Amino acid sequence: MTPVARRKDAIERTLDLIQPSTLPSVPHVEAGYLDLLGEERVAGSHPGQQLMESTGLALIYERLWRPVLGRLLMGAMGPGMGDERRIAAEMLELAPGDLVLDVGSGPGNFTRYFANEVEDDGLVVGLDASGAMLARGVRENSAANVCYVRGNASDLPFEDESFDAVCCFAALYLIEDPMGAIDEIARVLRPDGRVAILTSINRGLLPAPLANAFARPLTGVRIFGRDDITRALQRRGLTRVAQRVSGLAQFVSARKRARSPRRA
Ligand SMILES: C[S@@+](CC[C@H](N)C(=O)[O-])C[C@H]1O[C@@H](n2cnc3c(N)ncnc32)[C@H](O)[C@@H]1O
Repeated sequence: MTPVARRKDAIERTLDLIQPSTLPSVPHVEAGYLDLLGEERVAGSHPGQQLMESTGLALIYERLWRPVLGRLLMGAMGPGMGDERRIAAEMLELAPGDLVLDVGSGPGNFTRYFANEVEDDGLVVGLDASGAMLARGVRENSAANVCYVRGNASDLPFEDESFDAVCCFAALYLIEDPMGAIDEIARVLRPDGRVAILTSINRGLLPAPLANAFARPLTGVRIFGRDDITRALQRRGLTRVAQRVSGLAQFVSARKRARSPRRA
């Protein structure tokens, strides 16, 4: 099979997961990713959010921007990119054949790694609002079992209980409606499905709302209170919620309850 034919196959598998009501009659796949937003812009208006739409940033994101950002957030002794990938795969308990959603995938720097873990029978969908990031993903991080989708994290186009695992690394703090995104992540997870989140955490002297009043207008980045994410997951019925703090960042993992066995 040629690379293009293989990518088409992943797109077709992804189309099967999408709610029919959100599917256009003719899906837009000309750019190599499935574009479900068209002219709609969902990123938000803060500078950091707008920056994610830039072709220049997409070009340097994986090799330069993201490793530096990781160091700034987690410190020189904190996990590097290879460690982050391993942490994500462990928290998601990836296995061959899994269906994985990478929310706020950027240029696919984690998406591609997950694709190796789930092997050919698995499927990894990288969803992002930025066409520039996705175009880079198609170019640099494609695989036979990867499909990129342009969509809104806070209004996911997928059917309920579609994925075995959902990752959302370094994106929740930029998403305009982060709690809406957590609602959606919980909805699309299958029973017994796993979620892994990497985002900001308030470690400063100021309470999170005050820190946000300064930081958000300048950067677009939201600083979450110590328990905001863990509580949000628990409120949505997720279990085994675990948090690991590293500098100004937190890794959070959780699991959706398994379906209880039917009574005889
Ligand atoms: C900093 S990148 C993270 C990329 C990758 N997950 C990583 O860990 O390096 C954050 C991404 O979130 C995306 N994003 C922001 N708001 C979004 C939304 N509402 N829906 C989908 N993606 C969004 C941005 O376009 C950007 O590509």
